[in-house]
This record gives sequence, C-alpha cells and structure tokens, in this order.
Amino acid sequence: MSKKLHVLHPGGITIATTPSMAYMAEPAFEELSGIIQKRSINYCKVRYKKFSRGEVLPQIQGNVRTTHVYLFYDFNGDAAHDAFVLLLTLSALQDAGAEKITVVAPFLPFLRQDRKDRSRVPISAKVLIQNMTDFDSVKHVITLDMHSEQMEAVFSRAPDHLPGHVVFKPWIKEQFGGRLDDVVIVGPDFGSEKRVERLSSRLGCERAYLTKKRDGASVEIREIHGAPVNGRICIVNDDILDTCGTMAKAATALQEAGAKTVILTGTHAVFGGNAYQTLAATGCEVVVTDSLQTKQEKWLTVLPLAPYMSRAILENNIEGGSVSRIIEYGLPH
Ligand code: R5P
Repeated sequence: MSKKLHVLHPGGITIATTPSMAYMAEPAFEELSGIIQKRSINYCKVRYKKFSRGEVLPQIQGNVRTTHVYLFYDFNGDAAHDAFVLLLTLSALQDAGAEKITVVAPFLPFLRQDRKDRSRVPISAKVLIQNMTDFDSVKHVITLDMHSEQMEAVFSRAPDHLPGHVVFKPWIKEQFGGRLDDVVIVGPDFGSEKRVERLSSRLGCERAYLTKKRDGASVEIREIHGAPVNGRICIVNDDILDTCGTMAKAATALQEAGAKTVILTGTHAVFGGNAYQTLAATGCEVVVTDSLQTKQEKWLTVLPLAPYMSRAILENNIEGGSVSRIIEYGLPH
C-alpha cells in the first residue's frame, strides 16, 4: 500500500460542513482520509440553532484551533439569508482559532449582478465576495463556474475558479465515446463562448452558439452560429439553470433546426420558478452537478462534485500541487 501524505499545514486540516452540504463534504473527507495521514485530517459539522425572525447561531462541533479549515458551504436556502449566515460561520471559525480558512462553495449566489446595469443598484457579487474574504483567516476560496471570469478580480487573492468541464467531459465521453464526431457542444448565448470552447476542444467535438435576447424572464433565441446541428447530438452547456427559459428555448431552436438529440447540461441547478415543469416539457435529458440540491426526476442526471472538491483540496495541500493539472487532464481514475 502506498504511503499516506502529510499535509503542508502543520496544524493539519479540518473538513467542516453545514449539515446541508454533508452530502458532498463527507465523501470528500472519506476520499482525503484514504490519501492523507490520519492524524492530519479531521471532520466536523457546524450546527445551526434557529431563533425567532430568522436569527441563527452557528456552532462549530469540533476543535479547529491552529488547523486549516475547509468549510463546505452551500446556498441551498434563501440566498441573502445564507450569505449572512456564511459570515457568522466564518466569524465563529476564526474566533475558534482556525489558523486558515478556505471556503469551498461550489455555487456562489448573486454573481449575475456583477455590474451596475441600471441606476442606483448594488454590484451584489462584489458585496458578497468582499465580505466573505474580509476575514483575516479567510485565505482562499474554491468555487465552480462563476458567471463571469472577471469576477476573479474582486478577490484579494485569486480563487480556485474550477471549470465544470472536468465533470461534464467524462460523462459525455462515457455516453458518446465512439460517436464524438456526431456531437456538437452548444452555447446558449455568446457569454458561454469560453466555457463551450474549453469543453468542446477537450472532447475534440465541434461547437455552435445561439444568440439570445432576454426581456425580463422572457427569452428569445435568434440564430444558430457555428457547426451544423442538423441530424446531430446537440449538448447545450450553461453555467446557471434558473427558470430554464434559456434551456427550453435552446432545445426548441435546436429541435426545429433538425437536431437528432438535444441534451441540456449546466453547472448550477438553481431551478427557480417553474423550472422542473419547463425542463420536463422539453422531453430532453438534463445533466447538472450537485453544487445545489435538486429533486429526483427520471430525466435528470446529477454529477457529484465530491471527488473534484477533494482533489482540489489535496492539490492545495501537497508540495507542488497543481489544480491546473486537474483542469487539463481531469480527475485521476
Ligand atoms: C445568463 O447569462 C446565464 O448564463 C444563464 O444563461 C441564465 O442565468 C439562465 O437563466 P434562465 O434559466 O432563467 O433562463
């Protein structure tokens, strides 16, 4: 059996989690425990006691003094409430003596409000990120497919901004390995250009883009650019699936253009409004990650992020570790 690794941080590491993120944190901890020296890694939950009118008291359920804490934090509830509770949790960890904190939040809310797009509105993404990283002990953030890459500039130290293709690529290869010539990766708007380029080039597939016009919740798809879609397997890939108006209109446009199969994929299943009904009505298979929790549906495949997150934590903790190696070559088998 190979020798287990020591972590770089002398105080060891703690995997801490909200109860509602244990589905990801626990398997990530199990995997890391198999690789890292047992004495160097701990696991603990954060308990949240609720009071009147939404007041919350987090309490860390284990000793974190001098350790490097990886806090698995989810935004499965109300985004504004969860954002403030995150700050309380970070404060509790810092005051409990954690020497370093890395926030592992695969989904960060508010990131679509990343500019002042009309008068007298906040840049909400900046408010969340700056407050979260303002704690002295918060040294790093690990997250996935933020709405725009420029958002990295708001962090005082660049986050590990991990791309979703690391989980979508192996799934697509497994399904269509022998038929990749038949597959077109489709961006639902021009904002998806880089993400789709990264996924398609790693798969060796062609790509296409839709042009979208949005007026509030109503979405109109105007044109299809790029590779031909007629008779082919079209895999639409987006960062956020919210009302799913974008995905539903993309599916219709591609079906009308003669696509043989349309599969809808996206990193963050926000699933607001009537998203479940909207997606079910497309008749398409839908593939998302578990950055947010979803209901079980027969048309929905959920790809777990735990192996990806544990690998990112490991690469952050071993000498010469490299997250870009995972991004380029994928997760080790
Ligand atoms: C927008 O630019 C994003 O990348 C998504 O396309 C958008 O958030 C999806 O929203 P919805 O599902 O509500 O159409």
